[in-house]
Amino acid sequence: MNQVMGTAVNRKDGFAKVTGQATYTAEHALSGLVHGYLVTSAIAKGQIRLISTQKAEQAPGVLAIVTYKNRPKIFTPANDFRQSKLNEARLPLSDDQIHYAGQIIAFVVAETVEQARDAAQLIIIEYDIQPPLIHPQQTRYESLPDVEFSKGNVETATTAVTIEATYTTAKELHAAMEPHAIIAHWQEDSLTVYEGSQWVRLHQRTYAELFGLPAEKVRLVTPYIGGAFGSKCFPWAYSILCAAVARTIKRPLKLAVTRRQLTTNTGHRAATEQTLKVAAIPDGKLVALDHRVKTYTSFADRFIVDCTATTPVLYAAPNLRLQQHLGILNVPTPTYMRAPSENPGMWALESAMDELAWKLNIDPVELRLNNETTTHQRSNLPFAAKHFAECLRVGANQFGWRDRALQPRSLTRNGQLIGWGMAAATFPAMRGNTTVKVRLLPDGTVHVLTAGNDMGTGAYTMVAITAAAALGVPVEKVKVELGDSLFPDGGLAGGSQMTASLAPAVLQACQDVLQKANCTTANAACAALKQSGRAAFEAIASFAPKEDAQKWAFQSWGAHFCEVMVDEAIGRVQVTRWVSVMDIGRVMNAKAAASQVRGSVIMGIGAALMEECHLDPNSGYPVVYDLATYHYPTHADIPRIDVTFVGKPDLTFNSLGVRGVGEVGITGVAAAVANAIYHATGKRFRNLPITPEKLMA
Ligand code: MOS
Repeated sequence: MNQVMGTAVNRKDGFAKVTGQATYTAEHALSGLVHGYLVTSAIAKGQIRLISTQKAEQAPGVLAIVTYKNRPKIFTPANDFRQSKLNEARLPLSDDQIHYAGQIIAFVVAETVEQARDAAQLIIIEYDIQPPLIHPQQTRYESLPDVEFSKGNVETATTAVTIEATYTTAKELHAAMEPHAIIAHWQEDSLTVYEGSQWVRLHQRTYAELFGLPAEKVRLVTPYIGGAFGSKCFPWAYSILCAAVARTIKRPLKLAVTRRQLTTNTGHRAATEQTLKVAAIPDGKLVALDHRVKTYTSFADRFIVDCTATTPVLYAAPNLRLQQHLGILNVPTPTYMRAPSENPGMWALESAMDELAWKLNIDPVELRLNNETTTHQRSNLPFAAKHFAECLRVGANQFGWRDRALQPRSLTRNGQLIGWGMAAATFPAMRGNTTVKVRLLPDGTVHVLTAGNDMGTGAYTMVAITAAAALGVPVEKVKVELGDSLFPDGGLAGGSQMTASLAPAVLQACQDVLQKANCTTANAACAALKQSGRAAFEAIASFAPKEDAQKWAFQSWGAHFCEVMVDEAIGRVQVTRWVSVMDIGRVMNAKAAASQVRGSVIMGIGAALMEECHLDPNSGYPVVYDLATYHYPTHADIPRIDVTFVGKPDLTFNSLGVRGVGEVGITGVAAAVANAIYHATGKRFRNLPITPEKLMA
């Protein structure tokens, strides 16, 4: 393999993106395209007493108006991860029932988007309103036995030092740059869907099931995605409707969801409430960890955020208990969002560990080092690779942690309080089945095709690097095509598993190409092609996780160190310095990997200080409705973020030793910020986001 792997390689898709040549979903220009517009519920609970579309149907340009009364036939799909998956199990416009504010209650189609939007205002709707359950305190909670785990006895663990506290996280929105959209185009009984999708082939199969078609009759096209963070994994209600209505009107139909409607129709991160007890003997050895969680789902689906997922992973506790309860609210359906379970879970765990360190008067880095576990305490499997201690030591060293002031409120700069904080990071390493096709052409061009995807994370470049390294050709000679269901199944761009799943298949396919050519280098193979007059050497190879899942636990690790500056007079927190050290196995692209961690840290700072989707307590409708009212970080809020990787390949995991980097970076970030704020101010904040009014209270 040549030297390209692990270096800083520019994005393959960068030029197309900055010059506007990259075609995003809503930009596919189809002739005869018509436009849809969603009508959504103004109430959070009740039923539609009357919905009159007569006047709207007469409006200029209107082609169709669909409500629960005339919704086209849709089949109920299997809705599991093996076959098909919906983001919301309840099919759109199933009946007259309203389960949340912002639920789709009608779909208008017209020649132009303005005409569709205009006609939507003419629909007359009357509701029978019932009092909704909006606030997490209003619902009853059922226990989740699948999450439950216990060893030892957390109640009787007698100990000198205990922290028990409740930590909350806010409802957050994905707020991707590219709003959700779909274009559905039927030709006879074949459907082409242009739609951002993190899982191309599953998306394809889901549409096939919804419309009672064989999978070959559905093509999914999704070459570029402008951010997803988990919100573009499966079809949402709006996409199902759009595809269904396109079939009846026999025209290609586009629906671009408005920013406002994104807040209720494309998922969110559910708010959580977590009570954590950590107990240690005075020298700092943990004796008990007790994590009890409350989350909620909607009445339209059952989505679970397992906040206890990483609690048994970092620190050994002889007495350990995990418990979770689920409530149901009249709110939109939550979904996956960057480290869906691990990020909120680590907020509580890493805050509590910091509180314990202060109470024990032990360096929080030392406390973590002293309590490392070498096995996953749920499965009892040893970790295949855990360089967590190295992350802590390298990070502490880079940051200058040893020189920190030992008391809260003891550091100031320009009249403002300065604080230092740290927290651990961890995320499970996942991998799935993938297949890729590689073609080597006589001019030395390498063509790689797979229905994997790049949601902005760098997959195009990662695939090119892998092929370039395997064949000894420059990255520029590798042409990568992703995001089309006509290509071999490339698996899921989610759970940080695309690189770990796809790179080994690319490597194998490249090796197979050389073998077919009976050559050891791409140069020799090209010469053979020219001599023989053949068009290409081609190979298709697959990756499948091996049996070692039974023997090992796989996890990525990290540590964050940060400095904040607090202006108590106006309740302002500025993050002024950041160091992250990550153990993600082999680093494929130093530039993209560091960018992924930076993006995660930025998103985590947003969660720590700003992000919250407030709901009107009466209507249940979000009071944020665009990228200005949903407060998230801008450049001015973010310092330089130094990212370092341990870089040791995890060869038990796959042939390249690569684990993926998308999500581990966000875990622990909010806790690191809150821990730094405590050091600065002496005040412990346990409810996110830590906004100015909380700081000034
Ligand atoms: Mo990620 S939340 O698995 O896209």
